[in-house]
Amino acid sequence: MANHERFRFRSVEALRAEAGRLGLDIPWREDVSVLLEKAPLAGRKIANRLAVLPMEGADAEPSGAPSEWTRRRYRRWAAGGAGLIWCEATAVRADGRSNPAQLMLTEGSLGGFARLVEEMRAVARRAHGAGHDPLLVLQLTHSGRFAKPEGTPRPLIVQHNPHLDPIHELPPDAELVSDDELAAIRDDFVEAADLAAAAGFDAVDVKACHGYLVSETLAAHSREDSRYGGPFENRTRLLLEIVRHIREEAPGILVTSRLSASDAVPFPFGFGMDPDQPERLDLAEPKALAALLGRAGVRFMALSLGIPAWKPYVGRPFDRPAPGGAVPPEHPLEGVARHLAAAAEIGGAVPDLAVIGAGLTWLRAYGPGVAAAAVTSGRSAAFALGRGALAYPDFAADLIDEGRLAPDKVCTTCSLCSYLLRRQERVGCVVRDPAFKSAIRPGRKE
Ligand SMILES: Cc1cc2nc3c(=O)[nH]c(=O)nc-3n(C[C@H](O)[C@H](O)[C@H](O)COP(=O)(O)O)c2cc1C
Repeated sequence: MANHERFRFRSVEALRAEAGRLGLDIPWREDVSVLLEKAPLAGRKIANRLAVLPMEGADAEPSGAPSEWTRRRYRRWAAGGAGLIWCEATAVRADGRSNPAQLMLTEGSLGGFARLVEEMRAVARRAHGAGHDPLLVLQLTHSGRFAKPEGTPRPLIVQHNPHLDPIHELPPDAELVSDDELAAIRDDFVEAADLAAAAGFDAVDVKACHGYLVSETLAAHSREDSRYGGPFENRTRLLLEIVRHIREEAPGILVTSRLSASDAVPFPFGFGMDPDQPERLDLAEPKALAALLGRAGVRFMALSLGIPAWKPYVGRPFDRPAPGGAVPPEHPLEGVARHLAAAAEIGGAVPDLAVIGAGLTWLRAYGPGVAAAAVTSGRSAAFALGRGALAYPDFAADLIDEGRLAPDKVCTTCSLCSYLLRRQERVGCVVRDPAFKSAIRPGRKE
């Protein structure tokens, strides 16, 4: 691992020279037009290969319905011109919320979601013409061990984990969620998918990343006497059952899954880790799972890496940690390269599956050139931004109009959006969005 450094590149040559020095494969293509073309995805045609990744906003109504603040975020993204908008983690039931202001989709909040979809489509059409209709994915989740439905931890755990249990000071005898309860949660996902179809979304994502409930089952090597723990077949059962049941019971909606290609938590407590070298990533199981998802009818998926509460830099390479956080033990380019390699490896293993990676925000205005090279060489299906889209909601429109991103609009990877989320405060870009400039008072300490 190389020492951590902040972004300091004034040219792509300098960036690539640093990548070379670190022995990293960061591809590059000057011509980004491949990102701007219409593209087939899951039997549909999307307007371009530009995507907004899911970003929790902690700004829902108590009922779980989108608030005016939620709708503002999504109107900005819809006006921004991306062909794919992957809407944030939305709880399928109350005890699965990550905070009291997480979105939640139930009969009671359905009207609010339908309004959100309608507004996004109307804004997108108004800004980019009648034919512009972004593919809208809704991410469905249960927060599992990270659930805080009333603001304080109410963890639902699949297995004990010596690396993660201390985060919430879980006692060694804390009870595990039962198989019956997991089956009930499966049914809640299916019901929420049905509601998402009624609200007008094109697809639902069964969230299987970042250590939340479904993701935790994938790593549940030590869960004994359970249909959902132990061997690979059992650990992948919950995710595959949810996907299959949604396909059967809500056939009108596409199904996808955002998967942590690896948890980066040592084997046997993390998914996608090497049994012989517990700290090393090993994508053999994630690849096998992606193939099974493909067989179950998943045509595209998004990838992530890591568990934010454990090692946040694995999922989102950054310059500055959130207040109270540690400076990462690696160079952010190493994190970017790991994301690129994971998408390439999983996409390469399942040719019919379009795989969208993450972690490119740190590259600032050089992200599109790197993504264009990855797309052209079949290593990724799109240029997707998480934090970058929060800072720069119209990044797609600028790329389409100007062929480049404006350096003074890109995300600075200051981690303050993550900090707001951790504090269960409404999320926005403190640096770029005037409505959030005073969200964190200068000098405020954790
Ligand atoms: C404030 C915040 C909220 C996030 N919410 C979600 C979420 O709801 N679902 C999800 O899968 N990932 C979520 N992520 C992760 C992002 O989607 C993305 O994977 C990560 O930021 C790395 O991509 P980037 O480098 O483009 O930011 C969140 C990240 C941040 C910083």
